[in-house]
Amino acid sequence: MRQLVAGNWKMNGLAASLSELNALKAGLGSAPCDVLVCPPATLIAQAAWAVKGAFALGGQDCSTQVSGAFTGDISAQMLKDAGASAVIVGHSERRQGHGESDALVAAKASAAWEAGLTAIICVGETESQRDAGKAEAICQGQIAGSVPKSACAANTAIAYEPVWAIGTGKTPTSAEIAAMHAHIRKCLVAALGEEGRGMRILYGGSVKPSNAAEILNLPEIGGALVGGASLKASDFLAIIAGVKPL
Ligand code: PGA
Repeated sequence: MRQLVAGNWKMNGLAASLSELNALKAGLGSAPCDVLVCPPATLIAQAAWAVKGAFALGGQDCSTQVSGAFTGDISAQMLKDAGASAVIVGHSERRQGHGESDALVAAKASAAWEAGLTAIICVGETESQRDAGKAEAICQGQIAGSVPKSACAANTAIAYEPVWAIGTGKTPTSAEIAAMHAHIRKCLVAALGEEGRGMRILYGGSVKPSNAAEILNLPEIGGALVGGASLKASDFLAIIAGVKPL
């Protein structure tokens, strides 16, 4: 399985930040994996013009609706029109900060597919849920509720992002990551059959140059979703260099 290394810029980046995308383009060469950067929606069109297909671009969220009276929302079709080929849905910062439910996340994934975008559906437990021994059950429930039954390996990736590892510098141990990815694989196969077997499962949460190679070489790791360390091309390139050669 070809891995996917995706960058999530979150609410960071002005036009001047396009220089990082140019540096990424210049440093990428023939990457050993698929590469995606999700800048703020305001930059997607300019980024598409700048990178000219050297790597893919994505959104960080989308509406369930195609168009209409939804002030401030951005549809999947608009992201596609701006040059995106993917969109992150159900990030914990959306689930927690904006009260997004599993059902809403599932509807956003469906909206993404309808617009021709790949959906990256995020799941992950909080620290207290892990401490209570509920991490696997939480992720299983989020997968059951937010991955529509029609998901297939070509249009969907899952990102396992333990909430307590996001932006904190803390990561689960390699054994914990491998165990959770094996569990998520089991859930996906049970729900989706063959499509669940081929679907990429990314790890996200404090991925950085110093830990990328170890994480990306674990079993059942389909790639990484990278926040803070995707903002600088040099760090992101160092993470990509950790990808397991096919
Ligand atoms: P981080 O964020 O790499 O800064 O921990 C990951 C994410 O939120 O996707």
